[in-house]
Amino acid sequence: MCGIVGYIGDKQAEDLLLTGLKRLEYRGYDSAGLAVVGNGGLRVEKKEGKVDDLRKALSNGSMEGTLGVGHTRWATHGAPNDVNAHPHVSSDGAFAVVHNGIIENHGVIKKKLKEKGYQFDSETDTEVLVHLIEEVKREANLSLPEAVQQALTQVVGAYGIAVVSREDPDLLIAARKGSPLILGVGDGEYFIGSDAAPLVEHTRKVVYLSDGEIVTVRRSGYQVRTIDDEPLDKEVHELEWSLGEIEKGGYDHFMLKEIMEQPDALEDAMRGRVRPAEGEIVLGGLHQVWDQLRDADRIIIAACGTSWHSGLVGEYLIETFSRIPVEVEYASEFRYRDPIIREDDVVLVLSQSGETADTLAAVRQAQSRGALCLGICNVVGSTIARETDAGVYLHAGPEIGVASTKAFTAQVAVLSMIALKLSKGRTLSDAERKEHIQALAEVPDKVRAVLRQSDDALESMAQVYRYASNFLYLGRGYNFPVALEGALKLKEISYIHAEGYPAAEMKHGPIALIDRFMPVVFLAMKDSTYDKVLSNIEEVAARDGSVIAITDEENGELDELCEYVLRIPQTKEFLSPLLTVIPLQLLSYHIAVMRGCHVDQPRNLAKSVTVE
Ligand code: G6P
Repeated sequence: MCGIVGYIGDKQAEDLLLTGLKRLEYRGYDSAGLAVVGNGGLRVEKKEGKVDDLRKALSNGSMEGTLGVGHTRWATHGAPNDVNAHPHVSSDGAFAVVHNGIIENHGVIKKKLKEKGYQFDSETDTEVLVHLIEEVKREANLSLPEAVQQALTQVVGAYGIAVVSREDPDLLIAARKGSPLILGVGDGEYFIGSDAAPLVEHTRKVVYLSDGEIVTVRRSGYQVRTIDDEPLDKEVHELEWSLGEIEKGGYDHFMLKEIMEQPDALEDAMRGRVRPAEGEIVLGGLHQVWDQLRDADRIIIAACGTSWHSGLVGEYLIETFSRIPVEVEYASEFRYRDPIIREDDVVLVLSQSGETADTLAAVRQAQSRGALCLGICNVVGSTIARETDAGVYLHAGPEIGVASTKAFTAQVAVLSMIALKLSKGRTLSDAERKEHIQALAEVPDKVRAVLRQSDDALESMAQVYRYASNFLYLGRGYNFPVALEGALKLKEISYIHAEGYPAAEMKHGPIALIDRFMPVVFLAMKDSTYDKVLSNIEEVAARDGSVIAITDEENGELDELCEYVLRIPQTKEFLSPLLTVIPLQLLSYHIAVMRGCHVDQPRNLAKSVTVE
């Protein structure tokens, strides 16, 4: 979703901001813009389309100046076009604002401002905020930082903003409520980013702004205050990301890189935690709260998108190994339906970015009801990671491709660790648990084998299926969530309509769709559900459906029934999602590439959904 970058220092800002915007492209956007302050005053350039279109628009004359802000916009209020793109500028042309989030009371404020004579060029809520700052400043004769601060107290909704003014070329203001912002601390220079991506190549020192905080930055230093003007002493953190991790490293797309990185990401997620020799799982982040989690009456998992799918795998895992009842909720539903949360419940949220607005709201909902709230996040220092009571980081490294891949497998690995740890004294003997932990430790090598064996085969399958209009994905048990995830991957990046279903449910509807033009992907591992899945395959084959099956490497009995059979290494049933999802990711990837789709930034999608 929208991205912000800001710079103040001694270097020319234009190029630095454009590079920062390129690094933010992965979040998803439809227009981009820059404002630079220099001797020539304040210059703004904005364009519908990509950062490269903006760069072209700037090629006629660069913007001189060592202070500036940049923005990638993902349209919420008003169509994606040049006028609605950010930055938005005050009527007198003095200052410019970029904004992420939604100002909910923009209608009321706009009406009042119109009555005072303000004119609006765009359809955005951001322009309303700009004129509000302007009006507050004019009316009480305030400085710009004071006006920004006071205007924000009148605003309802979410914002991450950055402001620069031609009247003070040594001032960059940023503020946040509900939309992430990070201050990068350099040597005599400072950066603002809506995430760490545009900062990593310049500095590793960062300050995470919290909701209701505002920072005024000058070349000589910075000061963070609350929106109520209380000064704050914020801790400076060290960034974990490196530049290499946020670059493609020779791959055509981030998504392919991230699919291929999964064995390493899984090893990183398990390092020091999965201890097969001792038959133990060690989760330092949950140490303080472990007894409460172990003794929970119920665990509620809340998440969105792919993270919700790994939450479903988590439900199977935790219920199987701990016998604690688990419910999995869409965070967006959970937050609005007055859910029953008791004090002995534990709410566990899953979020790659740690910034998804609905998931964050679920955290706050859980905490307001007195429940322990745990977070499994990938991005260190993200809002959810900071606001939850305790948690486990994935350590999967930055995920840039909009379609989540390595975060899914890392989440499932962490959920497997939690489930196996919860099995102690309950469902598994020490010897069994040791065996299971050993099997988990062997997964990264098995993922390596899947990647080696299946990439070419899937590329040729993609040649055949790239023209399909619909796809069905079916699985049972642990592989039902994988069917959902496979369908999501395909629709996200190839725009082919795809549905995932529990295989048995096919009879209650989707079977009506089956004919020779309907590819059906079956997750048919030789596990406790295999015989039933086999019957479902027969049912599809009998209706001329084109079956693609993912099964164990030893299994030869599907060849006659299926168009394609992809064999992957055997593992224990509870670990199979970590292997079966890999071919589905690759199939989607190759189909999307062959259809000429924008794999890393699919249309209309955002990597981190910071609006409700
Ligand atoms: C967006 C992304 C998905 C992601 C979902 C949840 O829709 O495009 O890939 O699964 O948000 O994101 P989170 O960061 O909370 O896991």
